[in-house]
Amino acid sequence: MNRRQFLHRSVAAAGSAWLATRSLAAQTQTNSQTMTMTHATAASIPGSIPAPEIAAARFPDDFLWGMATASYQVEGAWNIDGKGESIWDRFAHTPGRIKGAATGDVACDEYHRYRDDLAILKQLHQKSYRFSISWPRIQPSGTGGPNPAGLDHYSRFIDAVLEAGLRPFCTLYHWDLPQGLEDRGGWPNRDLAGYFADYAGILAKHLGDRITVWAPFNMPWSFTWMGYGVGAFPPGRASYADFLKAAHTVSLAQGECFRSIKAASSKATVGSAYGMAPAYPKTDSEADRAAADRYHAMNNVWFLEAAMHGRYPKAFVVDTPYEQMGIRPGDEKIMQAPLDWIGFHYYTRRIVSDAGGTAKPGTGASFGTEIEQDTAAGRDPYTRFHAEMPTEGPLTDAGLEIWPRGIYDLVTRIAKEYNNPIIEITESGCSYLDGPYDKQNGAVPDNRRIDFFRQELAELARAIADGARVRSFHAWTMLDNFEWAEGYTQRYGLTYVDFRDQKRTVKNSGLWYGRVAAANRLDV
Ligand code: FCB
Repeated sequence: MNRRQFLHRSVAAAGSAWLATRSLAAQTQTNSQTMTMTHATAASIPGSIPAPEIAAARFPDDFLWGMATASYQVEGAWNIDGKGESIWDRFAHTPGRIKGAATGDVACDEYHRYRDDLAILKQLHQKSYRFSISWPRIQPSGTGGPNPAGLDHYSRFIDAVLEAGLRPFCTLYHWDLPQGLEDRGGWPNRDLAGYFADYAGILAKHLGDRITVWAPFNMPWSFTWMGYGVGAFPPGRASYADFLKAAHTVSLAQGECFRSIKAASSKATVGSAYGMAPAYPKTDSEADRAAADRYHAMNNVWFLEAAMHGRYPKAFVVDTPYEQMGIRPGDEKIMQAPLDWIGFHYYTRRIVSDAGGTAKPGTGASFGTEIEQDTAAGRDPYTRFHAEMPTEGPLTDAGLEIWPRGIYDLVTRIAKEYNNPIIEITESGCSYLDGPYDKQNGAVPDNRRIDFFRQELAELARAIADGARVRSFHAWTMLDNFEWAEGYTQRYGLTYVDFRDQKRTVKNSGLWYGRVAAANRLDV
């Protein structure tokens, strides 16, 4: 039995509950069997797909190869053409918040250099460009009429995206809330749902003739939790009650945004850009399996369930949080929005166990770049699980475990749970600090990134071969950029940026990914 048959059988045998019931022990065992059976070559990545299978991997003819960025991470030009202050401007300008006292004031200067970078995407045979619009460029304080200079900028930018032969994929909110709205209480204030719908309506009215693919929020769990629950992101609050209220406002805003865009643009399709991590129970115990399900409910599908079914999944062991969210009668209808496609990112996985006992609110240590607060009593008193990032696979320079198999598990699970929807992979990538190497004429030999994508994309091809309707993959990211609280200490780009002079050098991984996009296969 080859690896493919073996995996197919194990999936089929266990049926739909497969992912949830798979224990870490079983996972490890499968990998070691797989390795023995196939004599995997890229030995450092457990469960590596062997060369013949990589050569055989195929993508649909119309597959959309792409790259992604986010406004605050690349644009710079933080205070020009009437742009208002965002919460990330405020946060980065506050001493002690960002590594190296870095800011996004200049970043990659994308506001001025987008034409050059779009030319690189074109040269690399890209088909889709996922970017985000900076809300405070459109509405400097978050409400009221649009700033014409901001709209003009994005209008010119979208023309350039189309001229480069790329599909514009617009994220409306990649975390840069107008500071004026934070001053009105931020996301815990439910009025923001209406303000967000107004902003969405402005964008759809002025740009909806050319943009047809919209995602309201990037990683809604992350920015509500990190910003309001833990305080590692702006506005820097650490209150579980605020996190809950913020999460509910964002669900309402997602539904309102969906309707607002559709009302203003008949061509619009609306989906998502959620962050997801497959959750594997630490042991086969019922308690750990239930904890992994709570992780999936809270971190992966919370906002998806709200949109598709107008309800929240069971993420808590008690009812208190639902009572604290400020849910009003009729909110189910506001939240509900039948997304046209489902978009999500994949970076790494989680091993989840039940925290048990009587949990109390904790202030314990944080770990990993997602800063999932963990205490002896679990991440928080309500979800009551421990979520660990294992180190069985190699770690990237950002400290995230590489687990290519995770994308297969995630995609097939979402396909199963949501009636085989159209799926867009909105982000995936890895940080490695490789830079220009003078002995190779200044090329950037980032082979570890090539291995990462090759393995992961082979797993994605397997999910597609098994029936998942994945239509795009967006590598994070087009070019090295401002990596949030990490500042410029991480490099996720497929193009290297020298931040002293803004010089771009396409990394070897970028060249490889360009060949993949041209050939629709991985052995290039
Ligand atoms: C994702 C974010 C993106 C970037 C990558 C590394 O969580 O959406 O902005 O920071 O991680």
